[in-house]
Amino acid sequence: MAYQNIIVETRSKVGLVTLNRPQALNALNEALIAELNEALSGFESNPEIGCTVITGSEKAFAAGADVKEMAEKTYVESYLGKFLDGWTRIAETRKPVIAAVSGFCLGGGLELAMMCDIIIASETSRFALPEITLGIMPGAGGTQRLPRFIGKAKAMDLILTGRMMDASEAERCGLVARVVAPDKMLDAALAAAAKIASYSQPIVMMAKETVNRAQETPLSEGARFERRVFLSMFATEDQKEGMQAFIEKRKPAFRNR
Ligand code: HXC
Repeated sequence: MAYQNIIVETRSKVGLVTLNRPQALNALNEALIAELNEALSGFESNPEIGCTVITGSEKAFAAGADVKEMAEKTYVESYLGKFLDGWTRIAETRKPVIAAVSGFCLGGGLELAMMCDIIIASETSRFALPEITLGIMPGAGGTQRLPRFIGKAKAMDLILTGRMMDASEAERCGLVARVVAPDKMLDAALAAAAKIASYSQPIVMMAKETVNRAQETPLSEGARFERRVFLSMFATEDQKEGMQAFIEKRKPAFRNR
């Protein structure tokens, strides 16, 4: 597929998607979301790829959903149509996805970043859910995911005031995993992705699934789920290889089996 709004590359076992609508600070229109889904599906079904990085430009990861495209929507048309359908599929990826964020990460852009598994941010990044200033509220998971990341007090502050927070505040409150100098940010994200992709793919996918379970279940259920998945790992060849390699003081050769 020829992409108009994103650039899709592979770097060894890592898929890289660059959001590419510079004229609109990477505002996420429906065409871009459809292309992003297409690219992510391609990486999901490509056995060579173990992890994906989504990034934007130096100025903006994404300044939100495309306001110009949304402005004239009506309720009934939106309800009957597929508005927002593409967004939920992004959160269903099974292989890990890293958001490599620089500059503005606003509204739907932050909601997209929060659907990823790890956010690595440049010192220049700015985060907000400013939908309230437009007469709406977040609609792609922001009201639900942000409190899970940073707690209710701060999520309310951000969602009800629409204010921006800088990278160090975002790191302090647990929204982003790492803050990196602007010229090192993408390399740091790609290096983290390459490391993840060097491990056993099924084990990585199970670990992602199990951590995500923590967002949706009480502790006792989550721990039970973890126990089941953990024990199932002993049915894989990669568990035998990983432990044998440790004992033999060599690097493991995982075969994704
Ligand atoms: C459409 C956008 C856009 C957006 C920026 N642009 N953000 N177009 N949708 N979300 C366009 C501008 O219209 C402008 O194009 C160009 O990008 C450059 O933006 P400027 O405003 O000139 O740049 P700057 O002065 O540097 O200000 C940057 C900014 C500001 C602070 C990020 O652009 C801004 O506030 N953008 C909107 C942020 C926002 O409200 N996001 C939430 C959207 S709602 P032209 O052609 O006019 O020069 C949302 C809901 C999601 O995300 C719900 C689920 C789908």
